[in-house]
Amino acid sequence: MVKENIPRHVGFIMDGNGRWAKEHGRPRTYGHKKGADVIHEIVSASFNGGIKAVSLYAFSTENWARPKEEVDSIFELLRKFLKKYAKELIDEEIKLIISGDLSALPENLRTECLERIADTSRFSDHVLNIAINYGSKAEIVHAVNKALEKGKKQISEEDISENSYTSGLPDIDLIVRTGGEQRLSNFFLWQSAYAELYFTDTYWPDFHKKQLNEAVEWYSLRQRRFGDVSPKQG
Ligand code: FPP
Repeated sequence: MVKENIPRHVGFIMDGNGRWAKEHGRPRTYGHKKGADVIHEIVSASFNGGIKAVSLYAFSTENWARPKEEVDSIFELLRKFLKKYAKELIDEEIKLIISGDLSALPENLRTECLERIADTSRFSDHVLNIAINYGSKAEIVHAVNKALEKGKKQISEEDISENSYTSGLPDIDLIVRTGGEQRLSNFFLWQSAYAELYFTDTYWPDFHKKQLNEAVEWYSLRQRRFGDVSPKQG
């Protein structure tokens, strides 16, 4: 991976699992399994390459509209992933956070999430943020309401940041969306106000370290101005 101008926080919209499966003559659930299989490679390569925080869009509030079998299979993949890497998260000192409303999730997945969060809450150098049952507009409303409950009369930008799921994390510098669509789909809109947007036709199950390096290299060549006239380092 390039050494300079590395994004601190990268968000991945992991799209294209269903189309990958269709092209391989397999059920959509198999596409999600293949998608889950590349996550460890991408997260490890990100942290090894100097990225501090990784956010993954695993399940949106809109994804409940999918067939129950598909929803259940994604939840099961998530549970198995968190169980499989429980020890590695601790050994590698990776803090896990989950963005989204956990209350609607199956009990066994919610328990797995809460245990991994508790096990890793003391870490801070590397953060893995998985968005499950997540929607950005709902998150912003939730953050405003939390600030009001704390007695705020006027809401500042800091209030929203501090009461969001990603409180304490740097804003997202780079969003990578696989699968050819060019939209944000309610993914961390507040945190991505100044993010560079990288879209690739590659389906998520085919997105490997090489493709990650290409995205980060693309980012490293961007000049970020944040509304100013002179470029700033990201
Ligand atoms: C979008 O592809 C993908 C999802 C809605 C689910 C992503 C879930 C995983 C990769 C597995 C579990 C996650 C973790 C962190 C272990 P799509 O189904 O919309 O694809 P399509 O647009 O080709 O139909």
